[in-house]
Amino acid sequence: PRKVTTRRLIEMKAKGEKIAMLTAYDYSMAKLVDEAGMDAILVGDSAANVMAGYPTTLPMTLDQMIYHAQCVVRGVKRALVVCDMPFGTYQGNSIEALNSAIRIMKESGAEAVKMEGGAEIIESIERILCAGIPVMGHLGLTPQSINKFGSYNVRARNEAEAQKLIEDAKLLEQVGSFAIVLEKIPAALATKVSESVSIPTIGIGAGNGCDGQVLVMQDMLGINKGFSPRFLRRYADLGTIVEDAVGNYIKDVKSTDFPNESEQY
Ligand code: KIV
Ligand code: NA
Repeated sequence: PRKVTTRRLIEMKAKGEKIAMLTAYDYSMAKLVDEAGMDAILVGDSAANVMAGYPTTLPMTLDQMIYHAQCVVRGVKRALVVCDMPFGTYQGNSIEALNSAIRIMKESGAEAVKMEGGAEIIESIERILCAGIPVMGHLGLTPQSINKFGSYNVRARNEAEAQKLIEDAKLLEQVGSFAIVLEKIPAALATKVSESVSIPTIGIGAGNGCDGQVLVMQDMLGINKGFSPRFLRRYADLGTIVEDAVGNYIKDVKSTDFPNESEQY
């Protein structure tokens, strides 16, 4: 299958084709997601939550993100693989940001990086873009700033924040980002942003006016059972399927039903 490129995603927006994106963190699941026909796979720093069990994304290290991205890249033939830059590896200093992005690209084989923020980190974004590394922006609810916001509530509900978000989106387009994630903002604002830029917007909790959608795999597969925000659609109840399967295995071992004649040598 022909590889999806950042150019292709921009073309898809121009043609009005919606973009499907999902997170993945390991080889086996990335392979299944790719074979199902996903356009883009995000190696999200949500790995902190769903893979490592941390309450926030802040502890994720560059080495850990590179490890997850390496695993995903080995499983993917077609989808574009985008890797999150973790907290602390790009905000302070644009040279350090470039070095972090170069490590991700060199060591993992991911094809683009994603960074949270607009004007505040534009120097880092520009320096990374200058090195030929595609950058996906991320505006609205930016989980790496949870300690500043104090909650995971909907963002940009007031005019000032909405205006800043539109300006940030235009700035990201102007410097050459290839797409922007819009997380947990009013649908009407996301539609307006999507109409204001020619690069695709990928929404999560941002309504149907975005050019594509992204979800966290564990959330949409029902593995992350306690998490059920309004924006989430559950496509499977894998949590229950796994619990039932594991429970049956335990029962069969205890009762000596497993293994039977045909399951031994
Ligand atoms: O880390 C992640 O999974 C993300 C998506 C929610 C956009 O950044
Ligand atoms: Na993320």
